[in-house]
Amino acid sequence: MNIAEVAMKRFTAKEYDGNKKIPEQQIKDLYTVLRNSPSSVNSQPWHFFIISSAQGKQKIMPAIFEFNHERITNASHIVVFCAKSPITEQHLQNLLVQEEQDGRFATADLKKKTDEGRRYFVGINSNTPEQQLSWESKQVYIALGNLMLAAKTMGIDSTPIEGFSTQKMDEILNLPEKGLASVVVASLGYHTEHDYNAHLPKSRLPEAQLFTFM
Ligand SMILES: Cc1cc2nc3c(=O)[nH]c(=O)nc-3n(C[C@H](O)[C@H](O)[C@H](O)COP(=O)(O)O)c2cc1C
Repeated sequence: MNIAEVAMKRFTAKEYDGNKKIPEQQIKDLYTVLRNSPSSVNSQPWHFFIISSAQGKQKIMPAIFEFNHERITNASHIVVFCAKSPITEQHLQNLLVQEEQDGRFATADLKKKTDEGRRYFVGINSNTPEQQLSWESKQVYIALGNLMLAAKTMGIDSTPIEGFSTQKMDEILNLPEKGLASVVVASLGYHTEHDYNAHLPKSRLPEAQLFTFM
């Protein structure tokens, strides 16, 4: 399948086969996709909870709206995407140290400019805690998109889930004390043959309404 076919074949799984688990190497590859997702000024303002045990799923269930319960119970893995709340001085320093270790800075000046540039962008997007979280959420959603498309290339189905209470999820996972806030959830696994969405045609607005070529 080329990437256009993958995009057309991906759909939101509504019903998972609880007997099928994602092989270890494939789930690890998906962690690599998440880890390498791009973010503004390489801010990587995220943390991912990966839930695959029955106990873990049960634990987060009170936060999940009822219509999504099946997509948690029978999925192989659940990802709870979190944002740093707030972005701390420690996080900014951590990023810079990592970039240095990874060989990004040929000179001290480059290191200084990278740090300043990042602080500038974090600053202009952090006038309020809400604005900062909104900016971080944009980065988190890029990771979500990458994950779903990558999963489909591997024959793995997914469900993006906003149908949950962020407040309850934060409480259940003790996120405030970890300096985190939940943003979005995704299920991963294999759809059943009864999954109605697997058989429905995709519906998208025509190209003529979406693209302007200049
Ligand atoms: C950010 C986001 C949140 C979504 N939340 C839910 C959800 O809580 N439950 C669900 O079943 N589908 C959810 N969806 C799936 C959408 O309804 C679906 O992507 C859309 O109808 C297009 O269908 P397709 O993904 O099958 O192509 C969500 C999709 C996105 C992108």
